Parts: sequence; structure tokens; C-alpha cells
Amino acid sequence: MKGIILAGGTGSRLSPLTKVTNKHLLPVYNKPMIFYPIQTLVSAGITEIMIVSGKGHAGQFLELLKSGSEFGANFSYGVQEEAGGIAQALGLCRDFADSEKIVVILGDNIIEDNLKKSALEFGGRKKGAKVFLKEVKNPQSYGIAEIKENKIIRIVEKPAQPKTNLAVIGVYMFDEQVWNVIDGLKPSARGEMEITDVNNFYISKNEMEYEVLNGFWGDAGESFDSLFEAAKLVAGK
Ligand code: DAU
Repeated sequence: MKGIILAGGTGSRLSPLTKVTNKHLLPVYNKPMIFYPIQTLVSAGITEIMIVSGKGHAGQFLELLKSGSEFGANFSYGVQEEAGGIAQALGLCRDFADSEKIVVILGDNIIEDNLKKSALEFGGRKKGAKVFLKEVKNPQSYGIAEIKENKIIRIVEKPAQPKTNLAVIGVYMFDEQVWNVIDGLKPSARGEMEITDVNNFYISKNEMEYEVLNGFWGDAGESFDSLFEAAKLVAGK
């Protein structure tokens, strides 16, 4: 299985911190934000990793992360020229994936759980997708899962009236169908290719599994408060 880290986007919610640098290079306690998703993949046993960044700062990522050998990994790089959405950034990784299953992680997600067991289990599955859920206090800010009889029946992106408080975190496991799904996507009302639409495709085919995380999860890029919260939690470990 191959790993993909998506670190494009504009980071506008963290301006002015992101005026001259990329959100994923900002510190979370004692490390740049992107070190955490790298660590999540490597400790899950995934070492072939493609990192997609935005066009303004691609050189800084290369300078910081280099070949990946310091992390025990092998990095490839991609550049998303405009922030067209998470699914669009993912679409740039098709050749890299080369028909293998993939684990995708958003570059601002900080996860305490070790995903090794889940990655092994998913690697052995014939087909489908898997998402990870975590209870949150502000469900309006995330993709939110609705569940019936232990199955996700729908994910709604940033619902005004959330039906649950189960956020779909930024880690996704997909089989190779994902590339055709992305080809068929249309931009959402906010003009982005939504990962939630990709996930809803798998749900409609009854091929979506989920796990609820036990440990801490933080979307460090969501707000100044979430960045601060993530740093505090990392510091406390
Ligand atoms: O963190 C979990 C949430 O991430 C999910 O619950 C939502 O369903 C999902 O849509 C996403 O929501 P966000 O509003 O947090 O997404 P954001 O625009 O902050 O993008 C998250 C990461 O994805 C960002 O750190 C870099 C990457 N990204 C994003 C966009 C829009 C790209 O690489 N390219 C892009 O064009």
C-alpha cells in the first residue's frame, strides 16, 4: 500500500501566519506540522509516500523533507497549482499509486492512534474504502457521518444542522476505484472537488468501512484554537 499526504490549499484560516509560509510548515510544539502525518504513515508501515503541496512553497517542502531517508521513507513530490479541493489534489497521485491501494492523510491532521493494524487489515481486503471517525464538539466544521445499524449511511460536509457529532477525520483508505470516482466529480457549491463526495460513492456501493479512533485527533489547520490545542496535546505527551 502506498501513502499520500495532501498539503496544498491556501491556509487562509491561519492568516497572517500563512502569509509567507505554508500552513503545514508551521510549528506544532517542537516540529513542523507535516512531520506528524509523515510519522503516522511511517509507523503504520507505509514508507512509499507522495507529498502534494501548493505551488508557492514546494521548494521549502523539498528542502525540509528531502528524500525521506531521515524518516525511514521514500518521498515523491507533486504540486497542486490551485487549491481546487482535497479530491483534486489526490487526483494528481494516480500514476504514483500505480493501481495499489492507498492511505491518504491530510497534512494538518495530528493523530495519536497507531494505524498499523488498520492498514494491514485494509491491505488484505479485496476492495472498498475505510474512514476513521472521532467525536467532536464542533461538528459544523467537519465532514459528519450518519450511522445506522453500524454502517455509515451518509457523510455530510460541514452540515449546518449535524445529525451526529462523529467527524470523518482526514485519513482515508481507498482501492483503485478512487481514480475513476475522482474523474467523475463535479465541484461543490464552494468550488472544490470534495473528498466527501468520493466517500459517499463508496457508501452508495456498500463498500465503506469505518473505525472510531481512541486517541487524540486534531485538525491543526482548522483555526488558531485548534493549532494551539494540537500543540498543547503534543507537548503533554
Ligand atoms: O480534517 C478533517 C476534515 O478535513 C474533514 O472532516 C472534512 O470532511 C474535509 O473536507 C476536510 O475539511 P477541511 O475544511 O479541514 O479541509 P481543508 O480545506 O482545511 O483542507 C485540509 C487539508 O487538505 C489541507 O491541510 C491541505 C489539503 N488540501 C486542501 C485543499 C482545499 C489540499 O492539498 N488541496 C486543496 O485544494
